[in-house]
Amino acid sequence: MSVAASTALPDLAALEAELNAGVAAAADEAALEALRVAALGKKGSVSELLKSLGGMSPEERKTAGPAINGLRDRLNAALAERRTALKAAALEKRLETERLDVTLPVREAPAETGRVHPISQVIDELTAIFADMGFAVAEGPDIEDDFHNFTALNFPEGHPAREMHDTFYLPTKEDGSRLVLRTHTSPVQVRTMLANKPPIRVICPGRTYRSDSDQTHTPMFHQVEGLVIDKGSHLGHLKWILQEFCKAFFEVENVTMRFRPSFFPFTEPSMEVDIQCDRSRPGEIRFGEGSDWLEILGCGMVHPNVIRNCGLDPDEYQGFAWGMGIDRIAMLKYGMPDLRAFFEADVRWLSHYGFRPLDFPTLAGGLSN
Ligand code: DAH
Repeated sequence: MSVAASTALPDLAALEAELNAGVAAAADEAALEALRVAALGKKGSVSELLKSLGGMSPEERKTAGPAINGLRDRLNAALAERRTALKAAALEKRLETERLDVTLPVREAPAETGRVHPISQVIDELTAIFADMGFAVAEGPDIEDDFHNFTALNFPEGHPAREMHDTFYLPTKEDGSRLVLRTHTSPVQVRTMLANKPPIRVICPGRTYRSDSDQTHTPMFHQVEGLVIDKGSHLGHLKWILQEFCKAFFEVENVTMRFRPSFFPFTEPSMEVDIQCDRSRPGEIRFGEGSDWLEILGCGMVHPNVIRNCGLDPDEYQGFAWGMGIDRIAMLKYGMPDLRAFFEADVRWLSHYGFRPLDFPTLAGGLSN
């Protein structure tokens, strides 16, 4: 038995050399673990040798014991050493791929790379200005009926004033009526007066539609309506409000305005307002100086018929209103030459003219910076 055991003992030096070569060649921790299991696992080559010690004579065990145990200990040490080396190499490799160049400029987060359309930005700007003066924002539908878009606003039936706007009509209904894409934001005046008791102070920004298209006109455009109805509101208030608005919006110390007599069915008297500007430098407009005038809005005292059509007594209440083209003042302020480009949804145009989403305009924080 002991003879058989002693003859079964293999060449330990050769086995150790073979194991060491395997350890040295293991390319990663998984390969190293496979090697450990093959040698020191339950049925491993070295484990089997250790088990064979039990069958040896004490004499044989005396030499074989330390030899096999020594082999096991050296193998464990070699495995541990190789494992540490492989771990360090793996870490090194990861660090290499995850290397950060701290000198690179900060990459913008997705929320920052989008751009706010200039129209949305300008609506936010003018809302901030009028909100500061105590105005609320009112909205109405884009598809209007004849009453709100025309009749209540004192456009008489069949009157040429109705031809002032190149209206988009929806198909005629069975009762002969037809809806329109609102031609101005003035119907929101009507809706506001019908739904609220004075004092009323609102602005009504929104989309409007007319059959028109050239460099400064698009079939869909934007207006902001203003309406003040109270007992003593007068044109002096209107002039002050518009003056303050223009100074704040164009971010200048002074704006000179010119009020010209005009006609709108829903106001009496009616005026058009021009602002002074300097266009002597090519491609540039400056406000508050110069000898040019630019028309920016229509306004007037709300016609008594309109006040009456909206269920209020014109002997008790009076007020004023104005209507301004948002696209036009946006083009003027930000130097965008062609209105049609606003609505072509070209992302290159938007990334050039658009605004950073987190730069929300406020009077305190600055409108455009
Ligand atoms: N609704 C007019 C338009 O689109 C603009 C306007 C003029 C509105 C005078 C008003 C106003 O409220 O008083 O052409």
